[in-house]
Amino acid sequence: MQHLSDPDLWRTDAYINGEWVSTSARFDVLDPADRTVLASVAECDATLTNDAIAAADRAFSAWAARRAADRAQLMRALADALLASEDDLARLIGLENGKPLAEAVGEVRYAAGFLTWFAEQARRVDGSVIESPWERTTILATREPVGVAALITPWNFPAAMFTRKLGPALATGCTVVLKPAEQTPLTALAIAALAHRVGFPAGVINVVTGSADAAPVIGEALTSSRTVRKVSFTGSTAVGKLIAAQCASTVKRVSLELGGNAPLIVFDDADLDTAVAGTIAAKFRNAGQTCVAANRVFVQSGIAEEYTKRLTAAVAELTVGRFDSGSAIGPMIDDDATAKVRRHISDAIANGATVVSEGSTNEAGDQFVAPIILANTTASMQCHQEETFGPVVSLTTFDTVDEVVEAANDTDSGLAAYFFTNDLGRSHDVSKRLQFGIVGVNTGVISAPEVPFGGMKESGYGREGSAYGTDDWTEIKYTALAHVAP
Ligand code: SIN
Repeated sequence: MQHLSDPDLWRTDAYINGEWVSTSARFDVLDPADRTVLASVAECDATLTNDAIAAADRAFSAWAARRAADRAQLMRALADALLASEDDLARLIGLENGKPLAEAVGEVRYAAGFLTWFAEQARRVDGSVIESPWERTTILATREPVGVAALITPWNFPAAMFTRKLGPALATGCTVVLKPAEQTPLTALAIAALAHRVGFPAGVINVVTGSADAAPVIGEALTSSRTVRKVSFTGSTAVGKLIAAQCASTVKRVSLELGGNAPLIVFDDADLDTAVAGTIAAKFRNAGQTCVAANRVFVQSGIAEEYTKRLTAAVAELTVGRFDSGSAIGPMIDDDATAKVRRHISDAIANGATVVSEGSTNEAGDQFVAPIILANTTASMQCHQEETFGPVVSLTTFDTVDEVVEAANDTDSGLAAYFFTNDLGRSHDVSKRLQFGIVGVNTGVISAPEVPFGGMKESGYGREGSAYGTDDWTEIKYTALAHVAP
């Protein structure tokens, strides 16, 4: 039970049609800090996934027909329930994801924020009346929910990536089948338990769980279903491409929030304390395991030495340890993640990067990587080519604006970019030239329910959050209402 004050939130079965569904096949959820087993969770198959889709389909018409204000009321009740249980939910996030408790509490609030934001937006899903080309005819453009939606979420934000998709789905009248990441299903199941408690009708929210082996089977059932009309996926670019291809045969709506390779640029005129604080925020959240993490740091030559000195001092403050140890940096999510981060570090060093500073893991264990700053990294190194997803700062110096803009854009990813300058003209100019969906100027904090989150190029399509966030969950229907002479 892992010491939850509300034991009802400890759920390990799938949630289908308002009921907890046990399976004889189970899979283990591991504590990322030491790889011990936290829970044995239901291993769903194609049949259970189809049951969940059928339940969502049965619930759809009545849910879509409800007044937006009534849907919004339930969404707010769910947000309130998340906040009332924030300690338990944060503990679940800490246990299965490993992030520090303070960050986990922040994530629960972020997750609740998507529900309240989209509860407000539910009443603003509107259409238009268009000037008619025909006499005595009225042309209406109205928005309708796309229907049953499949949500496929990652392990790095087990609560917030669920509600970032659930919010617009519920607000527009869609019903959902969620497949949470195999590493972190417990938080999603706890949120389903809260949704059940506040009175969501059976079938509106369904959760199917499964291991890495089951994921392709569940994924195939969701993407090939003729009933599912939309898939919203956050995760790796490789899996996103597969999902987009699988959805083509049924011409589903697809929203993809995929990998990033964020540049962070520090210009000579930047306020260095702001730049250092921004780098820490953009790099070390969730131990560097975010799609918007600063992956390549470019520093203009004139301030490179001073910035590196101040950054080194700030990074030295970051301690490593378990989620409940008061440390700033938790473990990597699994062995593959740890191996990738270590591979990036050794590749960079083997190819000429130098270690500016390396922290200690405080003997927390093999799953932890100490924060490290590497200088003289180059475009051909793995840490520039792929997102590292770990607590590694890769530093490169540059001289001119044109040079750094070209280097920053030299990636197939286009999710987030950051830069620091006190020059207003440069702020506008560089922001326009960066080929990224999100640009943080003089800040490393860019995530909130109010903002349109999403990428360009191979970082995906669709925007989550903001007033644009409901667009991808509705179809526009045009109706011509012609007058018939009596
Ligand atoms: C992500 O890493 O995919 C999401 C990060 C965020 O919402 O800030």
